[in-house]
Amino acid sequence: MRRSILTIRSYRSNDLEELHAIDCICFPAGIAFSRAQLRSYLTSPASICRLAVEEERILGFVLAEVDQRSMGHVLTLDVLPEVRKRGIGTLLMNVLHKEMGRRKIKTVFLEVAVDNIAARRLYERLHYRYVGRIPGYYRGVQDAYCMVCFLSPGTGSQFPMDPSNTGPSG
Ligand SMILES: CC(C)(COP(=O)(O)OP(=O)(O)OC[C@H]1O[C@@H](n2cnc3c(N)ncnc32)[C@H](O)[C@@H]1OP(=O)(O)O)[C@@H](O)C(=O)NCCC(=O)NCCS
Repeated sequence: MRRSILTIRSYRSNDLEELHAIDCICFPAGIAFSRAQLRSYLTSPASICRLAVEEERILGFVLAEVDQRSMGHVLTLDVLPEVRKRGIGTLLMNVLHKEMGRRKIKTVFLEVAVDNIAARRLYERLHYRYVGRIPGYYRGVQDAYCMVCFLSPGTGSQFPMDPSNTGPSG
């Protein structure tokens, strides 16, 4: 039996429609990026986008931006529903951290809806820690947690913070 091989690659300009479609599957209207927003992020030199691809089909992607002060911001992490829980989200985050490490990024932050248990677990396992709660972050009605992780310079491997800081505070 032939086995499919999952590969990771960078964004290409003709991926935009597929990525937009995936984002609209992964997030409700009003939270998913518009095509224009997505295009603007994807074409920015400050952005990093990596795609998980199997048999030329995009299964998921991660999109982040970096700044000059060694900070990274994860904008979205999307995995198609039918291929979740296969480790693709974790793989994309690890690839992202590695690229950020190469670019000397030391601190990465992201926002996650307070009720998004799947994503919160994934980030907790990758040593992200809760640093705050943002009221109405999503559409003015849904709160988000802000989470942060620190990368080892150069390697992009995460190092754990204070182990007592494992849960949201409010
Ligand atoms: C969150 C998301 C990216 C996870 O992708 P994934 O490929 O399924 O993640 P992984 O297979 O790498 O899972 C890694 C860990 O995350 C946690 N996790 C993933 N899905 C979970 C679920 N449905 N319930 C609870 N924990 C879950 C588990 O700890 C899991 O480890 P385990 O399989 O050993 O239990 C995916 O569910 C998704 O695209 N959701 C919609 C978009 C979204 O919410 N993105 C995050 C925005 S902040």
